[in-house]
Amino acid sequence: MKKLVVLTGAGMSAESGLRTFREMGGLWEEYDISEVATPEAWRRNPELVLRFYNERRKALLSALPNNGHLGLVKLEEHFKVRIITQNVDDLHERSGSTDILHLHGELRKSRSTADPRLVYDIDGWELKSGDLCEKGSQLRPHIVWFGEAVPNIEIAISDVKGADILLIIGTSMQVYPAAGLIDYAPRHTPVYLIDPNETALGSTRKIEFIRMKASEGVEKFIKMVL
Ligand code: APR
Repeated sequence: MKKLVVLTGAGMSAESGLRTFREMGGLWEEYDISEVATPEAWRRNPELVLRFYNERRKALLSALPNNGHLGLVKLEEHFKVRIITQNVDDLHERSGSTDILHLHGELRKSRSTADPRLVYDIDGWELKSGDLCEKGSQLRPHIVWFGEAVPNIEIAISDVKGADILLIIGTSMQVYPAAGLIDYAPRHTPVYLIDPNETALGSTRKIEFIRMKASEGVEKFIKMVL
């Protein structure tokens, strides 16, 4: 079976009702990144950071995978599908995809501020000040914030290097190192990009654009490659 590597971003989950970040009406229009998504923000105002992610988690709990997610599951019948996602939601998992790597963390998990190896599932939507790990330290959202290292990037690079096909869905390709992954695809590997809008790519790579929403775009992609 050929290896299909899929890199997804917020646009993948837009049709599930989850907001993207950089579009009009996106989250970074309403919130200041430096106030809710950095280690400094956490030090300065943890309550605000917790509230921001609690709201995201609440929205996620009432969201469902869309046909784009489900199309990627169907592709497992024909390809060895590896999903590398920038999304912190669990919609790929809930739709049934079996091989998923999260680059930017997971919204439904918390992590110890004393020992990053201690990661826990969050029950429900709320992570509170005073919620402690087994060593007695405050729990933080299990999210990679701006200014923090991306622990899974080396694994993602090696996945992309081994891709027979690379499919990118619903990301503005503005955030590094994730956006740089495209340049690790071997020269002969075709690259497809599904996004209804223009994407300002920092890569000179030849790309087959599918200017559609994720759900229709995945359907079109399936017809193109099968
Ligand atoms: N289907 C596919 N793509 C869509 C859809 C849709 N229905 N709706 C919007 N899009 C596209 C937009 O055109 C845009 O190119 O999704 C992309 C979303 O881009 P961003 O909001 O920048 O999200 P993303 O690229 O995932 O952001 C990367 O930035 O803030 C951080 O950590 C956060 O993981 C996130 C990272």
